[in-house]
Formats: sequence, structure tokens, C-alpha cells
Amino acid sequence: MRTTDFGADFTWGVASAAFQVEGAWDRDGKAPSVWDEACRRGRVRGGTDCRDGIDAFDRLDEDLDLIAALGVGANRFSVSWPRVFGDGRGPWNAAGGAYYDRLIDGCLERGLEPWLTVHHWDLPLALQQEGGWARRGIVEDFAGFAEEVGRRYGDRVRHWMVFNEPLSVVGHIAGGVHARRLGPRPLEALASMHHMNLAIAEAGRRLRDVLPSGAQVGTTNVFTLASPFHTDDGRLRRAQRAAEAFAVDGFLDPLAGRGYPFDDSPFLRPMRRFVRDGDEAAMAFDVDFMGVQYYGPLPMRRVPLLGGLPTAWERTSEARVRSSVGIPVDARGLTELLRRYRHHPACPRFVITESGFGMNDRVDGDGRIHDDLRIWVARTHLQAVREAQRDGVAVDGFFQWSYADNIEWVLGRSARFGLVHVDYDDDMRRRPKDSYHWFRRFLTEGTAPDVAAAGAADRTD
Ligand code: BGC
Repeated sequence: MRTTDFGADFTWGVASAAFQVEGAWDRDGKAPSVWDEACRRGRVRGGTDCRDGIDAFDRLDEDLDLIAALGVGANRFSVSWPRVFGDGRGPWNAAGGAYYDRLIDGCLERGLEPWLTVHHWDLPLALQQEGGWARRGIVEDFAGFAEEVGRRYGDRVRHWMVFNEPLSVVGHIAGGVHARRLGPRPLEALASMHHMNLAIAEAGRRLRDVLPSGAQVGTTNVFTLASPFHTDDGRLRRAQRAAEAFAVDGFLDPLAGRGYPFDDSPFLRPMRRFVRDGDEAAMAFDVDFMGVQYYGPLPMRRVPLLGGLPTAWERTSEARVRSSVGIPVDARGLTELLRRYRHHPACPRFVITESGFGMNDRVDGDGRIHDDLRIWVARTHLQAVREAQRDGVAVDGFFQWSYADNIEWVLGRSARFGLVHVDYDDDMRRRPKDSYHWFRRFLTEGTAPDVAAAGAADRTD
């Protein structure tokens, strides 16, 4: 596998998100987010207070040096809404905003393109206390925040993603999990989903208004395909379709101006009560690219009477590996989703904005972190992208989640996704893993080394 196989303009990058890495949770006028509050209340695994993230705020130069040395051309990060906009509606907090100036300028100085995600789940706590995403007025709050972020950084940032994986936030609300431990709230989740769809389109328009021409405005979604990807069982297929229509088309169709796929998914139908006249048009926005986040499929199996239900991965999945956060790994799903959605009007072209693998990495006796499995996952997913490209699907970039281990939301420090190991017991010391060295050789030499060779290169560093 060669980097040039992917195309001359292909973007190679790493991704992270504000809450998961920054720390500095109360510095320079930053207000609390729902995730700071979850930490404070001991809702993160083991009751660990993870508000310090991985201290990226204070280690900006060290981290950017590591990212640049990896050989990637882009760094994807998100802006913390409560850092720059306090309780959610501003005014702009100049001291907090200065952090992103440092980050963006630091990227550009090192030849890294900054890819900015406007929002990655760290809602200002004050807005949550007013009802969070279930309150329709949040659409205007979010659009105002996005517009101001566009104004402040649009002179230097050319690639924009409006919202990270809205489905995940809908899931947190529906299940009453993660930061919002309120018990299951299915209707609140549907109202929130609708408001997110309105907010994404409105924020996209506001960004376009303030960004220089040539700026690329996209967004990201988690493409949760049901597996098995092909089945002759008609009832199972209909059940799979209902799940996918909710999880994927429920975000893509509104963006394309088609409204919701109510006919395909009974789960969506109760949402009708929240949809007002004119909303279908208001949810439409022409993205320049669709960010694909893919970690694995949703295994489903046939259930008498019901047709099909999500089930434990072992019982249905052809996947051989599962990540430490319980996701079955199946690179074929990536090719499959790219093929299936290539003609969707909300997907003019794709960028893989997240792909990665969670495992319980340990520092070995030789001081190294031998994460061969992560390398295997990266390699197979890159091959899956190539396969889709060979079919003519436009895929322009691949961002590895994440440059370093970080706070895995409610799992806290217990799941590691980084190319760089973070030692939480030793002053957050950074140590490149074997996967970091594998990527570095691949990106700087142009050919993917086999795993043993990556390890050997490692020893000479
Ligand atoms: C999220 C990341 C998260 C990753 C691994 C994605 O859904 O965008 O924030 O860390 O998955 O679970």
C-alpha cells in the first residue's frame, strides 16, 4: 500500500476533540460544559475526575510537534463552546478564544492544515440547564456560536465541520447515559435530534456567510450500518433498514432537503410532533463534503415476530476482533457504506473524519507500546477506502482517531485510542506507540511497512 495510491490531493490527518484533550477546564473565563459537570459528579468510570483532559492546553507545542513529525498534513480539533462563549450565548471570551489562535497558528507554522469542528459534544452546562438540545431555541444559540467562530478563525481555517456525530448525542439522551444521566428519554431524544438537524443547517448557512469564498463547509456523521451487510431474509433486512434510516438517513435526508425517512423507520415517526411548517426547507444545506466516522457495524439478528433486533456482536458478526469499547471491527462496512451512500445528495464527496481502534495498551518491559492490532485495523480500513475509490467513490481524506490517548467520555481514561501513549500516572508523559511509528514511516516514506519493520524502525529512533 502506497500513499500515492490514494490520490495526490488526499488529506492525511489526525483528529481529537476539545473536552477529550484540552484540560484547563476553568481557565481564562471558561464556563463548565456538561462533561465537566459529569466529571465533577463522578459519572465517569471509576469516578475519575477527567477535567484535566490530557493537558493539551498547556502542552500545545509538544503535541503539535508530535503531530507534525508523524507526517500528516492536517490536524482536526474542535472548539469548546463554553471556552469561547461562556454560558452559551456569548459575549465572545477573548482570553479563551486566544487558545484557538495559538492552536491554529501553531498548525500553520508546522505545515498542518487546521480542520475545525465547531461542536463535539461539550455543550455549555448553562444551556443544558435550560433544556439542552430539547429546547428549540438552541438552534439560534448554536448558529450564533458557529457564526462567531467562523468570524474569528475563518481567515486561517479552510476546512470546517459543523457538528460531530449528532447521532451519538441523540443516543446519550435517549438512553439517559453519558453526561446526561437522567434515565431514558426517547421523546426528548427525538426533539433533540430535530433541533440538531435544524441547527446544523442554520450554522452551515451562517458559516458560509462569514467565511471567505473557497472555505469548505462539511459536517460529520457516524455511519452505523447494520450487519450482516447483505441478507436474503426480507424481514431482517426491513428491520436493518429501519435502524439505518434512523441512524444515518435521519441526518442525511434532512440535509439534502428531503425531510425525514418516516416511511422507512417507525422509530422516527413520533418526531412528527416536533416538526413545524417550513422545517424541511430549514434543515437543507449543501455541504461541500460529508465526514464519515466509522468504527464498526451494528450487528442485528432475526427475531420472531419483530423481524430483527440489534444483538451481541459474537452471535452474528463475521468480524474477528472487538475493540476495548465493545465495537466489532469490520473494515468491509467502510467500503459498504461508501458504496451505498455515494449517490446520496448530502454526500458530494467523502472524508473519513474518524477511524481508530480502542485497546488497553500497556507499556512493555522495553518501554515500548506494541499495538500491532491497531496497525492491523488502520491498514485494513485504509484498504477498504482504496477499494471504494477503485469503484469510483470520491474519498478525499483519512483522519486517524486520535493523535494521543484521551478521555473516552464516560469511560474516562480506561479506553485508549491514541497513536501516542499518555501516562496518567507520570505527569501525562507522551510516548509514541508502534502505530505512531508505522504511520510515520508510511506517510514519510510513502509505503506501508509491515508490522515487524515498523517495530525495527522504532528501535533506531
Ligand atoms: C467520537 C469520539 C470518540 C470515538 C471513539 C467517536 O464516536 O467522535 O469522540 O472518542 O468515537 O469512541
